Amino acid sequence: MSNDSSKIVLITGCSSGFGLQIASRLAAKKYRVIATMRNLNKKAALLEEVKNRGGEADVLHLNVRDKDSIKDAFTEIGAKYGYIDVLVNNAGYGMGGFFEDLTDQEIRDQMETNFFGVQNVIRAFLPMMRPRRRGKIINISSMSGLTALPCSGAYNASKWALEGFSESLHSELKFFGIDVLLIEPGIYRTKIFYENSQYAKNFYNEESPYFQLSKQFEKKKRALVDDCHKDVEDIAALVEKLIESVNPPFRNIPDIESRIHYCVRKILPFHLYSALVRKAIFNGLRPPKH
Ligand SMILES: NC(=O)c1ccc[n+]([C@@H]2O[C@H](COP(=O)([O-])OP(=O)(O)OC[C@H]3O[C@@H](n4cnc5c(N)ncnc54)[C@H](OP(=O)(O)O)[C@@H]3O)[C@@H](O)[C@H]2O)c1
Repeated sequence: MSNDSSKIVLITGCSSGFGLQIASRLAAKKYRVIATMRNLNKKAALLEEVKNRGGEADVLHLNVRDKDSIKDAFTEIGAKYGYIDVLVNNAGYGMGGFFEDLTDQEIRDQMETNFFGVQNVIRAFLPMMRPRRRGKIINISSMSGLTALPCSGAYNASKWALEGFSESLHSELKFFGIDVLLIEPGIYRTKIFYENSQYAKNFYNEESPYFQLSKQFEKKKRALVDDCHKDVEDIAALVEKLIESVNPPFRNIPDIESRIHYCVRKILPFHLYSALVRKAIFNGLRPPKH
């Protein structure tokens, strides 16, 4: 693997989790890293990690839902570098809740960040990439973009939409020498499951017909996350590998559990897969009769 250290890499959502790790790893490897976040008051953790690893990074404000902030970042990057080689669309969050417990607005908000947010950033920065006839767009999707669980429909929809959009964009941008790639991680212990986790307002409503099911889902998810010892650095290493690959695969499932999960989903008839999922999570639990 040849490390072209001059590559300019723009990453969204770098205040924590995957984004922070990807930015600090690439900075340590002497890429020119533009780490963006929507709240610059959170930049200390990133800067400390970058410094500890002996790198350097530009840190810019960028909220994927705010086109003005994207435009400002574009102008600043245009003035300093004039182009980018790689765009990593990482920013996102998960909205938990059964469909009837979710409001329209909660579902729309999820799509605004995880799906339209990615499109906003790609639309803004493609004019910096297309004329160079090379480059890579790496979209951080999820195993939830290829499979679906109950109580996660809004998040699943946002990541399934991202998958479909990325497939289409892959074919469109091949004409211009730009590679569109996907990473579909399973569970990794980041703030998405703790400080940043979000639930439907009705998730904790004891009057909801889904209340017991939601509690059970949450218990199972919490156990899985607390028990997860996968290294977030593996995602950063995968991003670096994809950046340096001449012919990278379009889909990239980094962890073995998720590869098995996806295989089971593809092999089993859907009704059997669904029964397996319900048994694994709810194990005989019945909702109240209303
Ligand atoms: N961890 C996992 O198990 C897992 C699995 C599959 C996929 N993913 C995906 O990986 C990506 C990163 O998640 P993570 O696990 O690293 O979670 P995280 O630690 O919560 O990081 C999420 C990042 O996204 C940022 N963000 C949220 N909304 C934003 C917006 N409107 N504009 C700009 N930035 C925004 C957050 O900023 P603030 O600090 O300001 O909130 C934070 O920097 C997400 O797309 C997620 O769906 C994660």
